[in-house]
Amino acid sequence: MAKRENYREDVAGRANVADTPELLAYYDELERLETGALWTVANKIEPWEPKSASVPVLWRYADLRDRVLRSLQLVSPEKAGRRVIYLSNPGRRDVSAAVGWLYSGLQVMNPGEVASAHAHSSSALRFIMEGSGAYTIVDGHKVTLGANDFVLTPNGTWHEHGVEASGTPCIWQDGLDIPLVNALEANFYAVHPDMHQKVGYPVDDVRGAWGSPGLRPSTGDWSKGYSPLLKYEWAPTYESLQRYAKAADGSPFDGVMLNYVNPVTGGPVMQTIGASMQMLRPTERTRAHRHTGSFVYQVAKGRGFSIIGGKRFDWSERDIFVVPSWMWHEHGNASESEDACLFAFNDLPVIRALGLYREEAYGDNNGQQPLAA
Ligand SMILES: [Fe+2]
Ligand SMILES: [Fe+2]
Repeated sequence: MAKRENYREDVAGRANVADTPELLAYYDELERLETGALWTVANKIEPWEPKSASVPVLWRYADLRDRVLRSLQLVSPEKAGRRVIYLSNPGRRDVSAAVGWLYSGLQVMNPGEVASAHAHSSSALRFIMEGSGAYTIVDGHKVTLGANDFVLTPNGTWHEHGVEASGTPCIWQDGLDIPLVNALEANFYAVHPDMHQKVGYPVDDVRGAWGSPGLRPSTGDWSKGYSPLLKYEWAPTYESLQRYAKAADGSPFDGVMLNYVNPVTGGPVMQTIGASMQMLRPTERTRAHRHTGSFVYQVAKGRGFSIIGGKRFDWSERDIFVVPSWMWHEHGNASESEDACLFAFNDLPVIRALGLYREEAYGDNNGQQPLAA
């Protein structure tokens, strides 16, 4: 007879069946038929509230940078495909996730290197950490990239990354929904038949066509599921944060926060991944809240701390940390004179599309779980 866990709960409406020799024999019989009695696992597979397997983690850039640079000597992009050190959450090693169903890693390229063009069903983004001369080509559109720029390589697009010969070694953060798309068993990958794309448009044409706030091309038809802008530059993003800070108080939970959006729809930049940039003013400390959805943060500017699931993480520029789903979190700017900016990407487009978004402020709701969004 197999040893079995029994997830009993002494609560009306929950499964609470005591094991007996007869039941245990019955469970064995069911198992031989590839079946099981729901009441033995119901309390486990339907918890009262989300229980993330992910743990909060902070990856210090000071620890990672030299190790990422060392990979330049150890492997070539031709052999490695992509020269990346990925972030492995101790609770999610089985799916190579940084948190929840999101993957992230640090990629490095030398000047003059070009990675081969490919496409995949996963949606991807890059957030540039350091170096000059980086570029990405997405479906023939070449975009140039500098520190704190954010670029999309959406589901199904041909894309390749490189660094101009005149540039310097570049490091960026990759963010993808690989674990999610694998969980859905829907991931395809293809290498471009010519290994590289031809640039089919003027460099940075996406900025010219779609990058003017409040305006869009009169001939600009766009119905794809991702933002045609592809690249969101740091300078206008930071200016927008400054302007917004003068116009409004922002959120008690997130400070001055702007979402990157698809200029055509006003919605998230890609179908499965959303992204934001938030600014914490000098000494600003946010209120704690929790919500469904997984978040990967990168410190774009400044220094401060976040308290995630009761644990304090002190961060400075380029550090990366994660907030698992439904875990309490709050942020603080440690400086009295400088603002701090946090880039983040998340799976909120999926969570929202499936009607699964819930949010709760710390101290509200008398400890009752919010069943309605
Ligand atoms: Fe890719
Ligand atoms: Fe939050």
